[in-house]
Amino acid sequence: MVQIREDSPDNISSNHISPDIVWHSHSVGRKQREAVNGHPALVIWFTGLSGSGKSTLAGLLEQVMFSQGIRTYLLDGDNLRHGLCNDLGFSETDRQENIRRVGEVANLMVDAGLVVLTAFISPSRTERQKIRQSMEPGQFIEVFVDTPLAVCESRDPKGLYKKARAGEILNFTGIDSDYEAPELPDIHLDGSQSIEFLLEKLLVSLNKRSVLTL
Ligand code: ADX
Repeated sequence: MVQIREDSPDNISSNHISPDIVWHSHSVGRKQREAVNGHPALVIWFTGLSGSGKSTLAGLLEQVMFSQGIRTYLLDGDNLRHGLCNDLGFSETDRQENIRRVGEVANLMVDAGLVVLTAFISPSRTERQKIRQSMEPGQFIEVFVDTPLAVCESRDPKGLYKKARAGEILNFTGIDSDYEAPELPDIHLDGSQSIEFLLEKLLVSLNKRSVLTL
């Protein structure tokens, strides 16, 4: 019998799938939905420090895509932590579980034929890699919004860096919790540039990769 601990999100993130639960293949699948939508389904995964600009950029990209008839959905760290992930904090285990859930939701949304944009710090290289591996080649596009800590801290849009420096928030990414920068992101942006410049660069990169013609 599989032992499942009740005291930790580990019981969720482990692969305890009962042999009595059988996958059901439905007749309407991703391919049909993509054909109706007229574009491929994929994930554009923004990663970077808090205040790096990833949510703003993902939001602007979504506006452009949406205005061109692309079916999109934006998953944002702060927002998901109000609902689906409101039982999670910022320990390593909780962040792992946070990203695992986002990966599962993103996979469902890809199956639903959508272009999913995600904006999460997602500090762990391994956890990001797991999501890439759960998808087909080319379906996971990692966008590294590479903004130096000093710049994020000077922006401090929510006043959280100030609190973290004062010791009022623990495990704050970049202060007392690690951020593992992507080694080979699909798209690498210098986040200290203006948001207009970054959006332009992002659109050019996506076009170049022929992911979507925007
Ligand atoms: S992640 O590390 O698990 O990917 P996520 O993207 O969901 O993080 O949430 C990050 C947001 O939560 C930040 O933008 C910030 O507003 C807020 N936050 C609150 N506490 C922390 C913390 N200790 N570390 C990082 N972000 C925090």
